[in-house]
Amino acid sequence: MSQFRAVKGTRDILPGEVLSWRHVEKIIHQVAGIYGYGEIRTPAFEYTDLFQRSIGATTDIVGKEMFTFRPEEKGRSITLRPEMTAGVMRAYLQGGLGAASPVHKLYYIADLFRKERPQAGRQRQFSQFGVELIGASSPEAVTEVISLMMHVFGELGISGLVLRINSLGDRDDRMRYIVALKEYLEPYAGSFDGPLRERLEKNPLRILDSKDPEVRKIVRDAPKLGDYLSSSASDDFSKVLQYLDDRNVDYTIDPLLVRGLDYYCHTAFEVASSELGAQDALGGGGRYDGLAGELGSRQDVPAVGFAVGMERLLIVMEKLGLLKDLSASGPQVYIVMQDSDLFGHASGICDTLRQSGVSTVMDFARRSMKSQMREANRIHAAYALFVGEQEAQSKVYGLKNLGTSEQESLPLKDIIGRLTAVPKT
Ligand code: HAM
Repeated sequence: MSQFRAVKGTRDILPGEVLSWRHVEKIIHQVAGIYGYGEIRTPAFEYTDLFQRSIGATTDIVGKEMFTFRPEEKGRSITLRPEMTAGVMRAYLQGGLGAASPVHKLYYIADLFRKERPQAGRQRQFSQFGVELIGASSPEAVTEVISLMMHVFGELGISGLVLRINSLGDRDDRMRYIVALKEYLEPYAGSFDGPLRERLEKNPLRILDSKDPEVRKIVRDAPKLGDYLSSSASDDFSKVLQYLDDRNVDYTIDPLLVRGLDYYCHTAFEVASSELGAQDALGGGGRYDGLAGELGSRQDVPAVGFAVGMERLLIVMEKLGLLKDLSASGPQVYIVMQDSDLFGHASGICDTLRQSGVSTVMDFARRSMKSQMREANRIHAAYALFVGEQEAQSKVYGLKNLGTSEQESLPLKDIIGRLTAVPKT
């Protein structure tokens, strides 16, 4: 073993596990396609002020979890992206996508970076899949993104999830609520530590996401945002709930759900799994109508989206036994050589097969025929193709089906014909 280890909070995804990732990714691409979402890719780092502006300076993410650096001594500060929404909105505005069409439906699978304390389901480099529906955030749009998320879970066979939902109202609703919340929390301020007192001062909503059990106890009896919604915000939220009912999506209204990022308004939601333990949030999202304005857009750009943690998704699937049947499909052909002097001839065959689109591998380790056969079976090759002195002269090769053990002798062009034939359906 090498003295070098992966950095704390990061992990390798070795070939066996990659199968599970590709299975999940395939379903995500499929479902996103079914709903008409197009993939977007943005840079892994952005200027730091993008995240300060959008996620909010007093959030945990911006306050203590960002990997920030200055590539040039006097240059602008840069941050490894801790989430995708800000970068996607920046790309949408910078690319002038709104001019081409008022509504853009985007999705991504991307690596993100947060300087959190690593534990099961919480890493410093992790991956999310998510969607951002930019240009609409009506109850219909909100319901669509939630349906898409649930559709992915359904296709993956995941059950036992709890969808929690709440409305954060509009800016005025939150202003009124914050006054009441502050008033309620003020008497407890003496027991708060420095950062908590700062939050009370600058952004009391963030106290509602505190994980501290003592703070959670206090917060339980705090005024509820739902009681401060204007009638239009209430109507909007009722419509979302009605549409979810219509689509038989189960949910629980959680009056304390505010999410840990500042850009949300109106509907916000989270999906949790009891399979995850302490880090039970599998995904979350909501509306963020004010984000484009925060980033300097003169036009209002309503938007809604969500993101789901890929590592947590795979943990849940593993626990539910949903990854067991994923077996590697190996190459079509493994070339078994009688001895290494035949390498030149065998590699010519290998090339011809590959040029014809037949996936083919051969031995590089000068192993015995027996070891080559063992390797062919280990990597789940469909056929072994034998190359010995006699075969090299006659140009007729033994082809063994490793599933049925049937063996035939065929010239190369017949082998190619057989292996490239489109199966009859
Ligand atoms: P978020 O709640 O910060 O939302 O992250 C979404 C999901 O990412 C979490 O529920 C969790 O599964 C996963 N996650 C977050 N941090 C970690 C970590 N350190 N290790 C492993 N998984 C993690 C957002 O990021 C928003 N951008 C979602 C959104 C999209 N809202 C609107 N559009």
